[in-house]
Amino acid sequence: MTAKIIDGKAFAATVRGEVAEHVARLKEEHGLTPGLAVVLVGEDPASQVYVRSKGKMTAEVGMNSYEHRLDADTAEAELLALIKRLNADRDVHGILVQLPLPKHLDEDLVINAIDPEKDVDGFHISNVGLLGTGQKSMVPCTPLGCLMMLRDHHGSLSGMDAVVIGRSNIVGKPMAQLLLGDSCTVTIAHSRTKDLPQVVRRADIVVAAVGRPEMVPGDWIKPGATVIDVGINRIGAPEKGTNEDGSVKTRLVGDCHFESCAAVAGAITPVPGGVGPMTIACLLANTVTACCRANGLPEPEGLTA
Ligand code: GUN
Repeated sequence: MTAKIIDGKAFAATVRGEVAEHVARLKEEHGLTPGLAVVLVGEDPASQVYVRSKGKMTAEVGMNSYEHRLDADTAEAELLALIKRLNADRDVHGILVQLPLPKHLDEDLVINAIDPEKDVDGFHISNVGLLGTGQKSMVPCTPLGCLMMLRDHHGSLSGMDAVVIGRSNIVGKPMAQLLLGDSCTVTIAHSRTKDLPQVVRRADIVVAAVGRPEMVPGDWIKPGATVIDVGINRIGAPEKGTNEDGSVKTRLVGDCHFESCAAVAGAITPVPGGVGPMTIACLLANTVTACCRANGLPEPEGLTA
């Protein structure tokens, strides 16, 4: 079997198009412009790339983008004071504090200082609890993007066996909750799981979110299964030659070995161009949802869990 490639780049463009339509309607009918504030502390290069990309796409769908860049040695009290101001700002509907934070800042304390209704990352303890009990919440963007792709491919997920590899608060755990919400039988596997290959072989749906390059080979995959690869890992690619400074060129790979998994799976997301683009699209979707909720307006259909 050769798997269908699930094109996350194209899907994300469709989602952003729907977001842009909602934004235009909110402006026209209610005089509202959704606003997203992104807070970046320090100069982590990967975080800077993400934040720039978020700002650009926020503006492209017609929303207001507010960027707050703070020095790496910013005091916790200063960051908390900024969050307090953003919580009170009626033009700001979504707040995202880019992670990881510098070591001297308490991530849990900072995230839980965000107004849960503006917590477009879905990381606040209230949103985690609401999702876990099947109540309306803000849903973390990466798992939401994965769910949208799975629903689009399968229609109903009811009764399917799903294995989530990875137990992070950002992806693994909320992904498992969402799949449970769609009536899958869910297993969360992790580094201590016994006989991981056998566990994965049972799955109709595999979501790999561990951050280990190409750790899932094709012979772990049940024929016809759907593979959602959340990993984004940069590895050396000597076959591409060297850079001007003599260093080896690199390439991006997922947590799944793409060629061997694609030979067995029914459908698979590529890296790059799979889950990655969906994350920012869902962040924009969550910001529109937050704006609608804050103003007592009906939520956009198809853009929430
Ligand atoms: N750093 C890497 N991914 C994310 C994300 O989804 N949200 C935030 N806030 N920080 C991140």
